[in-house]
Amino acid sequence: MSNLNQETVLSVHHWTDTLFSFTCTRDTSFRFLNGQFTMVGLPVEGKPLMRAYSLASANYEESLEFLSIKVQDGPLTSRLQHLQPGDPVMIGRKPTGTLIVDNLLPGKTLWLLSTGTGLAPFMSIIKDPEVYERYERVVLTHTCRFERELAYQAYITQSLPQDEHFGELIRDQLIYYPTVTRETFRNTGRITDLISSGKLFTDLDLPPFSVENDRLMLCGSPHMLKDTRALLDAAGLKEGNHSTPGHYVIERAFVG
Ligand code: A2P
Repeated sequence: MSNLNQETVLSVHHWTDTLFSFTCTRDTSFRFLNGQFTMVGLPVEGKPLMRAYSLASANYEESLEFLSIKVQDGPLTSRLQHLQPGDPVMIGRKPTGTLIVDNLLPGKTLWLLSTGTGLAPFMSIIKDPEVYERYERVVLTHTCRFERELAYQAYITQSLPQDEHFGELIRDQLIYYPTVTRETFRNTGRITDLISSGKLFTDLDLPPFSVENDRLMLCGSPHMLKDTRALLDAAGLKEGNHSTPGHYVIERAFVG
Protein backbone atom coordinates (compact mmCIF):
# COMPACT_ATOMS: atom_id res chain seq x y z
CA MET A 1 0.00 0.00 0.00
CA SER A 2 1.33 3.46 -0.85
CA ASN A 3 2.49 5.62 2.06
CA LEU A 4 1.18 8.69 0.21
CA ASN A 5 -2.29 10.05 -0.43
CA GLN A 6 -3.00 12.11 -3.52
CA GLU A 7 -4.98 15.20 -2.54
CA THR A 8 -6.32 18.19 -4.47
CA VAL A 9 -5.25 21.79 -3.86
CA LEU A 10 -8.22 23.92 -2.75
CA SER A 11 -6.66 27.38 -2.27
CA VAL A 12 -3.30 29.14 -2.41
CA HIS A 13 -2.30 32.34 -0.62
CA HIS A 14 0.91 34.22 -1.41
CA TRP A 15 1.95 36.23 1.66
CA THR A 16 5.14 37.66 0.12
CA ASP A 17 7.39 36.80 -2.82
CA THR A 18 9.13 34.25 -0.57
CA LEU A 19 6.25 32.91 1.54
CA PHE A 20 2.98 31.18 0.69
CA SER A 21 0.41 28.79 2.13
CA PHE A 22 -2.07 26.40 0.58
CA THR A 23 -4.96 24.17 1.57
CA CYS A 24 -5.84 20.79 0.12
CA THR A 25 -8.40 18.03 0.53
CA ARG A 26 -7.98 15.58 3.41
CA ASP A 27 -8.34 11.83 3.10
CA THR A 28 -10.97 10.60 5.56
CA SER A 29 -8.46 8.14 7.04
CA PHE A 30 -5.78 10.81 7.67
CA ARG A 31 -5.42 11.44 11.43
CA PHE A 32 -2.90 13.62 13.24
CA LEU A 33 -2.22 15.39 16.53
CA ASN A 34 -2.10 19.19 16.52
CA GLY A 35 1.54 20.27 16.21
CA GLN A 36 2.68 17.32 14.08
CA PHE A 37 4.26 17.35 10.62
CA THR A 38 3.94 15.10 7.60
CA MET A 39 5.60 14.69 4.22
CA VAL A 40 4.33 16.90 1.38
CA GLY A 41 5.40 16.81 -2.23
CA LEU A 42 4.90 16.42 -5.93
CA PRO A 43 5.82 13.83 -8.51
CA VAL A 44 9.06 14.91 -10.22
CA GLU A 45 10.27 12.87 -13.18
CA GLY A 46 7.93 10.08 -12.19
CA LYS A 47 9.04 9.91 -8.55
CA PRO A 48 7.54 11.66 -5.51
CA LEU A 49 9.78 14.49 -4.22
CA MET A 50 8.77 14.91 -0.58
CA ARG A 51 9.72 17.26 2.29
CA ALA A 52 8.52 17.51 5.88
CA TYR A 53 5.88 20.19 6.51
CA SER A 54 4.05 21.04 9.71
CA LEU A 55 0.28 20.94 9.56
CA ALA A 56 -1.04 24.48 10.04
CA SER A 57 -4.65 23.24 10.13
CA ALA A 58 -6.14 21.78 13.30
CA ASN A 59 -6.92 18.07 13.43
CA TYR A 60 -10.70 18.62 13.34
CA GLU A 61 -10.65 20.72 10.16
CA GLU A 62 -11.90 19.29 6.89
CA SER A 63 -8.97 20.44 4.78
CA LEU A 64 -5.20 20.40 5.40
CA GLU A 65 -3.11 23.59 5.40
CA PHE A 66 0.64 24.12 4.96
CA LEU A 67 2.93 27.18 5.12
CA SER A 68 6.05 27.24 2.95
CA ILE A 69 8.90 29.42 1.88
CA LYS A 70 9.66 29.75 -1.83
CA VAL A 71 13.24 28.95 -2.75
CA GLN A 72 13.80 29.82 -6.40
CA ASP A 73 16.21 26.92 -7.00
CA GLY A 74 14.78 24.69 -4.26
CA PRO A 75 13.96 21.26 -5.76
CA LEU A 76 10.47 21.17 -4.22
CA THR A 77 9.46 24.73 -3.34
CA SER A 78 10.40 26.07 -6.79
CA ARG A 79 7.60 23.79 -8.03
CA LEU A 80 5.23 23.87 -5.06
CA GLN A 81 4.94 27.67 -5.22
CA HIS A 82 3.17 27.39 -8.59
CA LEU A 83 0.36 25.20 -7.24
CA GLN A 84 -3.12 26.23 -8.34
CA PRO A 85 -6.53 25.13 -7.05
CA GLY A 86 -7.39 21.79 -8.64
CA ASP A 87 -3.76 20.61 -8.86
CA PRO A 88 -2.77 17.29 -7.30
CA VAL A 89 -0.41 17.22 -4.29
CA MET A 90 1.03 14.20 -2.42
CA ILE A 91 0.59 13.97 1.35
CA GLY A 92 2.39 11.42 3.56
CA ARG A 93 0.05 9.16 5.50
CA LYS A 94 2.18 9.02 8.67
CA PRO A 95 2.28 12.33 10.54
CA THR A 96 4.75 12.58 13.43
CA GLY A 97 6.63 15.13 15.55
CA THR A 98 7.50 16.23 19.07
CA LEU A 99 5.45 19.46 19.35
CA ILE A 100 2.53 17.80 21.07
CA VAL A 101 1.09 18.74 24.43
CA ASP A 102 1.49 15.20 25.78
CA ASN A 103 5.27 15.65 25.62
CA LEU A 104 5.03 18.48 28.17
CA LEU A 105 4.46 18.34 31.90
CA PRO A 106 1.42 20.22 33.21
CA GLY A 107 2.01 23.95 33.79
CA LYS A 108 0.35 27.37 33.85
CA THR A 109 1.64 29.12 30.73
CA LEU A 110 2.32 27.49 27.38
CA TRP A 111 4.82 29.49 25.30
CA LEU A 112 4.92 28.85 21.54
CA LEU A 113 8.10 30.48 20.23
CA SER A 114 8.51 30.61 16.44
CA THR A 115 10.54 32.22 13.71
CA GLY A 116 9.57 32.30 10.01
CA THR A 117 7.61 29.24 8.87
CA GLY A 118 8.12 27.80 12.35
CA LEU A 119 4.76 29.42 13.03
CA ALA A 120 2.94 26.63 11.15
CA PRO A 121 2.59 23.94 13.86
CA PHE A 122 1.46 26.61 16.31
CA MET A 123 -1.41 27.63 14.01
CA SER A 124 -2.69 24.11 14.57
CA ILE A 125 -2.09 24.20 18.33
CA ILE A 126 -3.74 27.59 18.98
CA LYS A 127 -6.92 26.22 17.35
CA ASP A 128 -7.01 23.24 19.73
CA PRO A 129 -9.62 23.83 22.48
CA GLU A 130 -7.92 21.21 24.69
CA VAL A 131 -4.80 23.36 24.94
CA TYR A 132 -6.85 26.04 26.68
CA GLU A 133 -8.10 23.49 29.19
CA ARG A 134 -4.55 22.41 30.03
CA TYR A 135 -3.04 25.90 30.38
CA GLU A 136 -4.22 29.13 31.93
CA ARG A 137 -2.72 31.05 29.06
CA VAL A 138 -1.01 30.44 25.73
CA VAL A 139 1.59 32.93 24.47
CA LEU A 140 2.43 32.76 20.76
CA THR A 141 5.53 34.65 19.65
CA HIS A 142 6.45 34.97 15.97
CA THR A 143 9.68 36.65 14.87
CA CYS A 144 10.38 37.55 11.26
CA ARG A 145 12.73 39.92 9.51
CA PHE A 146 9.91 42.11 8.16
CA GLU A 147 6.33 42.81 9.21
CA ARG A 148 4.94 41.56 5.90
CA GLU A 149 6.32 38.10 6.77
CA LEU A 150 4.12 37.84 9.87
CA ALA A 151 1.75 35.39 8.19
CA TYR A 152 -1.75 34.93 9.64
CA GLN A 153 -1.45 38.15 11.66
CA ALA A 154 -4.98 39.33 10.81
CA TYR A 155 -6.37 35.83 11.20
CA ILE A 156 -4.90 35.52 14.71
CA THR A 157 -5.89 38.98 15.90
CA GLN A 158 -9.22 39.44 14.12
CA SER A 159 -10.78 36.18 12.87
CA LEU A 160 -9.88 33.70 15.62
CA PRO A 161 -11.23 35.83 18.50
CA GLN A 162 -14.57 35.90 16.65
CA ASP A 163 -14.70 32.14 16.07
CA GLU A 164 -18.14 30.90 17.05
CA HIS A 165 -16.85 27.78 18.81
CA PHE A 166 -13.76 28.91 20.69
CA GLY A 167 -13.45 32.66 20.16
CA GLU A 168 -13.99 33.22 23.86
CA LEU A 169 -11.05 30.96 24.79
CA ILE A 170 -8.86 32.85 22.33
CA ARG A 171 -9.95 36.24 23.68
CA ASP A 172 -9.39 35.18 27.30
CA GLN A 173 -6.30 32.99 27.06
CA LEU A 174 -4.27 33.58 23.87
CA ILE A 175 -1.59 36.27 23.83
CA TYR A 176 0.01 36.98 20.43
CA TYR A 177 3.42 38.67 20.46
CA PRO A 178 4.80 39.31 16.95
CA THR A 179 8.29 40.77 16.63
CA VAL A 180 10.32 41.99 13.67
CA THR A 181 14.11 42.26 13.44
CA ARG A 182 14.91 44.31 10.34
CA GLU A 183 12.49 47.22 10.33
CA THR A 184 10.56 49.32 12.81
CA PHE A 185 7.50 47.70 14.35
CA ARG A 186 5.73 47.83 17.70
CA ASN A 187 7.90 44.93 18.99
CA THR A 188 11.41 44.58 17.63
CA GLY A 189 14.29 42.16 18.19
CA ARG A 190 15.12 38.49 18.29
CA ILE A 191 13.12 36.44 20.77
CA THR A 192 16.38 35.30 22.39
CA ASP A 193 17.36 38.92 23.10
CA LEU A 194 13.86 39.72 24.36
CA ILE A 195 14.08 36.77 26.78
CA SER A 196 17.63 37.63 27.94
CA SER A 197 16.84 41.30 28.51
CA GLY A 198 13.55 40.48 30.23
CA LYS A 199 11.66 42.76 27.82
CA LEU A 200 9.37 39.94 26.73
CA PHE A 201 8.22 39.48 30.32
CA THR A 202 7.80 43.16 31.14
CA ASP A 203 5.89 43.75 27.89
CA LEU A 204 3.49 40.91 28.74
CA ASP A 205 3.45 41.52 32.47
CA LEU A 206 4.42 37.89 33.14
CA PRO A 207 7.19 36.44 35.30
CA PRO A 208 10.36 35.00 33.69
CA PHE A 209 10.40 31.28 32.79
CA SER A 210 10.23 28.95 35.78
CA VAL A 211 10.33 25.18 36.17
CA GLU A 212 7.06 25.32 38.12
CA ASN A 213 4.89 27.33 35.72
CA ASP A 214 6.22 27.56 32.20
CA ARG A 215 6.13 25.10 29.32
CA LEU A 216 7.51 25.87 25.88
CA MET A 217 7.45 24.68 22.32
CA LEU A 218 10.09 26.00 19.92
CA CYS A 219 9.96 25.92 16.14
CA GLY A 220 12.28 27.91 13.92
CA SER A 221 15.71 28.03 12.33
CA PRO A 222 18.46 25.80 13.73
CA HIS A 223 20.28 28.86 15.14
CA MET A 224 17.21 30.16 16.90
CA LEU A 225 16.57 26.72 18.39
CA LYS A 226 20.16 26.37 19.62
CA ASP A 227 20.28 29.82 21.19
CA THR A 228 16.83 29.55 22.78
CA ARG A 229 17.55 26.09 24.12
CA ALA A 230 20.68 27.45 25.87
CA LEU A 231 18.54 30.07 27.62
CA LEU A 232 15.99 27.48 28.73
CA ASP A 233 18.65 25.08 29.96
CA ALA A 234 20.22 27.93 31.94
CA ALA A 235 16.82 28.52 33.58
CA GLY A 236 16.81 24.87 34.67
CA LEU A 237 14.16 23.69 32.19
CA LYS A 238 14.42 20.17 30.76
CA GLU A 239 13.60 19.01 27.25
CA GLY A 240 10.74 16.52 26.90
CA ASN A 241 10.03 13.79 24.39
CA HIS A 242 7.60 10.95 23.71
CA SER A 243 8.89 8.77 26.54
CA THR A 244 9.59 11.48 29.14
CA PRO A 245 7.51 14.66 29.20
CA GLY A 246 9.52 17.78 30.06
CA HIS A 247 9.36 21.56 30.30
CA TYR A 248 10.02 22.24 26.63
CA VAL A 249 10.01 20.54 23.21
CA ILE A 250 11.72 21.48 19.95
CA GLU A 251 11.13 21.04 16.22
CA ARG A 252 13.08 22.65 13.46
CA ALA A 253 11.21 24.62 10.82
CA PHE A 254 11.60 22.62 7.69
CA VAL A 255 13.07 24.24 4.62
CA GLY A 256 11.98 23.11 1.18
P1 A2P B 1 17.68 38.46 12.32
O1 A2P B 1 17.01 39.32 11.32
O2 A2P B 1 18.30 39.22 13.45
O3 A2P B 1 18.61 37.45 11.71
P2 A2P B 1 15.36 33.84 8.84
O4 A2P B 1 14.51 34.63 7.89
O5 A2P B 1 16.83 33.99 8.65
O6 A2P B 1 14.92 32.40 8.99
O7 A2P B 1 15.08 34.47 10.28
C1 A2P B 1 13.78 34.57 10.80
C2 A2P B 1 13.85 35.38 12.06
O8 A2P B 1 14.62 34.65 13.03
C3 A2P B 1 14.56 36.70 11.85
O9 A2P B 1 13.82 37.70 12.49
C4 A2P B 1 15.92 36.48 12.49
O10 A2P B 1 16.49 37.63 13.05
C5 A2P B 1 15.58 35.52 13.59
N1 A2P B 1 16.76 34.76 14.03
C6 A2P B 1 17.77 34.30 13.27
N2 A2P B 1 18.71 33.67 14.00
C7 A2P B 1 18.27 33.73 15.27
C8 A2P B 1 18.80 33.26 16.52
N3 A2P B 1 19.96 32.61 16.58
N4 A2P B 1 18.07 33.49 17.63
C9 A2P B 1 16.89 34.14 17.57
N5 A2P B 1 16.35 34.62 16.44
C10 A2P B 1 17.03 34.42 15.30
